[in-house]
Amino acid sequence: MPSKSDNNLSFNRSVIVTSALPYANGEIHLGHVASTYLPADIFTRYLKLSGRDVYHLCASDDFGTPIMIKAEAVGKNPEDYVKYWHDRDTEDFKSIGISFDLFSQTSSSTNAQFVQCVFKILQKNGYIYENDVIQFYCETDLKFLPDRYVMGKCPFCGAEDQYSDLCEKCGRIPDKIIDPKCAICGIKPVMRKSRHYFFNLSTFSKELENWLNESKSLQTDVKKYVLHWIREGLHDWDITRDIPWGIKIPTTNNETHATDNSDNSKMEYKVFYGWFDNHLCYISTLADLLGGLERAKSKWNDSEIYHFIGKDIVYHHYLFLPAIRMGMKNEYKLPDFIPTRGHLMLENQKISKSRNWYIGLKDFVKEFDRDYLRFYIASISSYSQDDVNFDWDSFAEKINNELINNIGNFINRTLSFCQKYFDKIPEPSDFDKEDQEIIDRLTKIGGVVGHLLENNEVDKALKEILTFSSFLNQYFQRKQPWKDPQGANTLLFISINAVRSLAIMLEPFIPFSAEKIWLQLGIDRGGDGSDVHIQKWESLGHMCIKPGESLGKVEPLFKKIEPTQIQSQKQKLEIAIKNAKV
Ligand code: 2FM
Ligand code: ZN
Repeated sequence: MPSKSDNNLSFNRSVIVTSALPYANGEIHLGHVASTYLPADIFTRYLKLSGRDVYHLCASDDFGTPIMIKAEAVGKNPEDYVKYWHDRDTEDFKSIGISFDLFSQTSSSTNAQFVQCVFKILQKNGYIYENDVIQFYCETDLKFLPDRYVMGKCPFCGAEDQYSDLCEKCGRIPDKIIDPKCAICGIKPVMRKSRHYFFNLSTFSKELENWLNESKSLQTDVKKYVLHWIREGLHDWDITRDIPWGIKIPTTNNETHATDNSDNSKMEYKVFYGWFDNHLCYISTLADLLGGLERAKSKWNDSEIYHFIGKDIVYHHYLFLPAIRMGMKNEYKLPDFIPTRGHLMLENQKISKSRNWYIGLKDFVKEFDRDYLRFYIASISSYSQDDVNFDWDSFAEKINNELINNIGNFINRTLSFCQKYFDKIPEPSDFDKEDQEIIDRLTKIGGVVGHLLENNEVDKALKEILTFSSFLNQYFQRKQPWKDPQGANTLLFISINAVRSLAIMLEPFIPFSAEKIWLQLGIDRGGDGSDVHIQKWESLGHMCIKPGESLGKVEPLFKKIEPTQIQSQKQKLEIAIKNAKV
């Protein structure tokens, strides 16, 4: 196992992996899984198997106007509303094996305290200033209308119906949306004055530019357009919102409102903008996990930091987040990697919740093995910001032909043949040239797959495993053990050991099936711990299963997907889109 890989991931350093925080207002769908959670989970599982000290952190993103308004709409208070979604997300993540070390909430008290403390540091360092903002106010809804609640034409690319805080077409953040409308009632809002705090993002332009230029580990294609944004000029960020739901703003005299000097009478209704507090929750979640901020700080600064995101939040993670850390004089180190992936399309169309063009996790796992989802998404998940496509036919094709006919077939034919003709794992005879070739491949494959996983090349890593497995199938086939079962001792000894290696390599991708493989191999993971070392990545090139050991109960691991199942999924989608409200 090399101690360093291309990405300079040192074996001896801890790794902190964060996955973008899901908004606590709707279910996790396949798009989120593909862009963020699954690649991060595969990466983390691999690092854990290879013996690294790694933490995978996430939290529900609880604040913001949309959440507050949705809570109101269903007659709940925001706390109960976000708790519902936090619990639901926890369940959904668990259902497909996304295993966080901690899944917290941005509304946790640790996060609130940390955010207030960061604000004070930034203020002390001179990066916060106050300004009156003339803000949209809806006279029908009697509300200030921040970000998501004003829609209009993007001033940069001209796209219609864009949110005032993010143009989904060009990815930029409009500073002045054209032809604004209240997103609740559609009426043109009026302008009113309110006192706000601003973060001095533009001050960091040069520092951000240097950091991006010097970083060897950030994706080049993403860096390119972020650098372009810097050259176009960065705008300071208004980090205050006139709503009651959010982290209260501390003042120097310890009151929790912004300041007077405004014609907004409800001063207590000022909180931090959700994007000021949510990314800070990466750090506060670590603090909750490790039992305090001081411990979190020293772990953070001594680790490789990975923020896994989808491409729609590049601006926030490549500019705003690092600038805030710079503004704290790098008390917390900058990210080393920001693995950024494109969107998942569904049957070649953009996923859209409002059009009902999406697949929820809960629905998916009702119908299919959860590892099928993991396998398929991993197989299409390239490490780039290009969009990828979920296609029901290719899903069935990949599961049936690659997972089942290739991997499942080799594992099942090996284990059932051994169980049928040998009581215990047989003693091998001399190794011939073909046996030796398999042993050679077995010695090398862990390094190849591990290297790709360290570099986040999930799809390529899976491809290597598939190539290895088809090679094993050919080996089994060429040896024709059925002609002389008792003479197949060497083939079976090697193949059983190859099954063990597959179980290790497959664990990050399809953990539930890997568990079944261990049981069929007669290796109890939950046992007394004596088998643990033979389940570690570093052992996968060795022949750890010895002659004389017994197998567990052998049965087929997977069940083929039938064309009727796919047909009915396609129909379901078509019906859902027809019934959509928009
Ligand atoms: O875009 C989103 O879904 C946000 N909730 C992501 C937040 S990630 C952050 F915390 F940095
Ligand atoms: Zn309105």
